[in-house]
Amino acid sequence: MSNSLLAQEVASRRTFAIISHPDAGKTTITEKLLLFGRLIQKAGSVKGKGNDKHATSDWMAMEQQRGISVTSSVMQFPYRDAIVNLLDTPGHEDFSEDTYRVLTAVDSALMVVDAAKGVEERTIKLMDVCRLRDTPIFTFVNKLDRDTRDPIELLDEIETVLNIECAPVYWPLGNGKGFKGVYNLYTDTLHVYQQGQGNRIPDDVKIQGLRSDEARALLGAYADDFADEIELVRGASHEFDLDAYLAGRMTPVFFGTALGNFGVREMLDDFVRWAPAPRPRATENRLVEPVEAQFSAFVFKIQANMDPNHRDRIAFLRICSGSYSKGMKLQHCRLGKDVRISDAVTFMAGEREQALHAVSGDIIGFHNHGTIQIGDTFTEGETLQFTGIPHFAPELFRRIRLKDPLKTKQLQKGLKQLSEEGSVQVFMPQRNNDLIVGAVGVLQFEVVAYRLKDEYKVDCIYEPVNIYSARWVSCDDPKKFEEFKKKAYENLAEDGGGYLTYLPPTRVNLSLMEERWPDVKFRATREH
Ligand code: G4P
Repeated sequence: MSNSLLAQEVASRRTFAIISHPDAGKTTITEKLLLFGRLIQKAGSVKGKGNDKHATSDWMAMEQQRGISVTSSVMQFPYRDAIVNLLDTPGHEDFSEDTYRVLTAVDSALMVVDAAKGVEERTIKLMDVCRLRDTPIFTFVNKLDRDTRDPIELLDEIETVLNIECAPVYWPLGNGKGFKGVYNLYTDTLHVYQQGQGNRIPDDVKIQGLRSDEARALLGAYADDFADEIELVRGASHEFDLDAYLAGRMTPVFFGTALGNFGVREMLDDFVRWAPAPRPRATENRLVEPVEAQFSAFVFKIQANMDPNHRDRIAFLRICSGSYSKGMKLQHCRLGKDVRISDAVTFMAGEREQALHAVSGDIIGFHNHGTIQIGDTFTEGETLQFTGIPHFAPELFRRIRLKDPLKTKQLQKGLKQLSEEGSVQVFMPQRNNDLIVGAVGVLQFEVVAYRLKDEYKVDCIYEPVNIYSARWVSCDDPKKFEEFKKKAYENLAEDGGGYLTYLPPTRVNLSLMEERWPDVKFRATREH
């Protein structure tokens, strides 16, 4: 592929994920985006709950029962001149570690905020993760068809709680029963809300000029108040600055109703204009440019048994440079091995398709037969290791015990693979033969028990264990480290990747140890 063609293709890519608190409308807005991307003909057909296209795997019968989405897939669609890659994230907070890692694979994010609730707890957490890489953020304030809080107050809250400047691009014309549409502060255009068009691409009804007769007719007695409000908003809010947005300091704000499919198109139009194309990525060795001719990619997620007809695992890779073509030979950098990839897949609205061609910014899936781990890098020959794909310290711990002690080997194998996939983390204490599993959410334990039984034929039970958290430990001074290891022996363990971890029984114990051993680094995340 020629350099200029590659550059052109890469420039068209918009790879992003949606961050929000549960119920803010992520699933609904995803569906409308797929509608505009012509991946579906009619909304209502890919609902994440109930009638469920996500629940294609049988171990996920569990998710269906619970009405949560455990899966995380990738949807690619063309919109205007762009090719949009939307990476879905698990809705349930128990799988937030997966969400964090999906955020390492995107170039930007869309934050959805419920207009009646404002900034909620999970959004705050996810924004913190975005901030690690200064990810540019679009904001969509949703559910304007309901009674909302004062939009000025909402923007104030976003600015103070999330520490990001807000630049409203549109402003809502009323809310709830009186919701009339949105007004573009830059083009002086009113976009008129039409009810009952939620399931299709709505008509695009516009009025030019806030002071026009048509606008007056639409707004009625409210017209003067609205004009005053706009004056106020213009004076008091930040003007949109593309560089500040790209640096993650400012977010353009849009308003609408995902359910009513209104305001989403307006947001998407500006999204494909402003959101960044793939950007350079850091490796341990050097910065990799997306338009470099040689292929490179890293694994950010491994998913098992998405489709009961293919009982296998898929490793999701984010391409960081070059292009993929069928049958190409790649180097698996961690193993230093060459592999020929003839059957990579892409995910068009959840359907598997053979990937024939993909470029920087795109996501492809490799079949994984147990040799691929999260964080692995694949290249066309150069030995590289992408950075910034962390494991996060688990917050919950259990001792795992076999019902049949003869199956220790299977259990170890199962746990090893599940931890490499990032489904759970495993710790082996130094002082005994226990196996400790660590998770961010309780449901992860259930999924792991289910999969151990289903895939590895081992029945196990969990027991409570007195561990508060996990910290990966290291020290530049080998002598001090040896001393520390002796003293901390009781609470030290090796994790699934062979890294030394300190498992403090209490928060107080952790603070004391950090104080006593200032030369030892206690890290809450670890990289590959
Ligand atoms: P999530 O993925 O972020 O968890 O949210 P989801 O889209 O599932 O939306 C949560 C609920 O909010 C759904 O209602 C959905 O219909 C509703 N919703 C989403 N956008 C809007 C909007 O713009 N206006 C209004 N009024 N409601 C909206 P539900 O009753 O929980 O589910 P369902 O029975 O409608 O499927």
